[in-house]
Amino acid sequence: SLSDLQPLGLDPILSIAARVARDPRPERVDFGIGVYRDAEGHSPIFAAVKAAEARIARDQRTKAYLSPLGDTRFVAAMSAAAFGEHLAFAGLQTVGGTGALHLAMHVLAATGSGRKVVLGTPTWPNHAPIAASAGLGIRTYAHRADVGGAFDPAPLLQAIATCSAGDVFVLHGCCHNPTGIDPNLAQWQDIAAAIAAAGALPLIDLAYQGFGEGWAEDQAVVALFHDAVPELLVAYSCDKNFGLYRDRVGMLTVKGRDATSGQMIVQHLAAAARTAYSMPPDHGAVVVRTILEDAELSRLWRSELDAMRARLASLRQAFAMALEARGLGQPCLSRGFGMFGMLDVAPGDVEQLTERFAIFLPPSGRINLAALTDATIERLADALLAVRAG
Ligand code: LMR
Repeated sequence: SLSDLQPLGLDPILSIAARVARDPRPERVDFGIGVYRDAEGHSPIFAAVKAAEARIARDQRTKAYLSPLGDTRFVAAMSAAAFGEHLAFAGLQTVGGTGALHLAMHVLAATGSGRKVVLGTPTWPNHAPIAASAGLGIRTYAHRADVGGAFDPAPLLQAIATCSAGDVFVLHGCCHNPTGIDPNLAQWQDIAAAIAAAGALPLIDLAYQGFGEGWAEDQAVVALFHDAVPELLVAYSCDKNFGLYRDRVGMLTVKGRDATSGQMIVQHLAAAARTAYSMPPDHGAVVVRTILEDAELSRLWRSELDAMRARLASLRQAFAMALEARGLGQPCLSRGFGMFGMLDVAPGDVEQLTERFAIFLPPSGRINLAALTDATIERLADALLAVRAG
């Protein structure tokens, strides 16, 4: 019966906010969930989004159903903006990047028995549960930096060399979550060639385009894989780069062996969407499309996104310098990209940071760099020093 259900462990990321809310200390800082914050600690709505929403409120005439594909104009505009007009992709709108991963894994589970999902660990803590929920087996390899703080491709290349044809490699397209350490372009080329030779299937999770090296640079891996492999899936999220987190906007784009098989894969994905939720919520997708189809709103949105990227990069460097000044330098922190970095902490240190200093982060030691301010940079660096000293 339902009373046989066992209590579940807490989600390592989502549980942080609840803990912060319960903590009475006014100096508490939440370095948990990946939302962008400004210098005042707010997660602002983009001005471009507000303007698009005003336009939609004025002009939208119906909320009649669309289809499990969602807003197909959104998918066309978003994939053209993200990957360029020249890359041929079929696709559908999804419930955020998570929805895209979920649909992809469920359709993959239905094709080819014994397919495994290969994850570099650490990874986003939802990847393995999504694969498991689809009934797919999981293999892992170490996603790590070398001594200089650059991505070490050896474990991934080894995992590819020992995989079975059809295995699915989930790859973070940019701004690796949680480490911030991405392969460079030459390494990506080797990875793509190895995946192609092994007959494995890349599933690129692209949730942070615009937060790494730049808009075009952050999707270079998609273009590279598109050239290198016959079949490719890209799970795309608009949560961060349009600040639409709770509106749940994403898409799943597909390169099939040819246009017909691409469309057929999308049909299966749409059928999976139909049984799960029928069709995705519309609002956020219309917002994104309204921005992308309007030159002025696009310029405004890109300037807001560029400012976020610049702020994140400067917080990353300032924090790296604060650690350096205390003898706690971490090359992979200063060399990383995007919203996250890993603190070099032992198990138990994270709990001490919370207990002694009201600093909240997931047990993995990942921090959301956007939650740093001039004041909290010093506080976090001092707290790390104190925790190290015991
Ligand atoms: C994160 O990693 O913090 C974000 O992707 C939010 C989430 O859903 O976990």
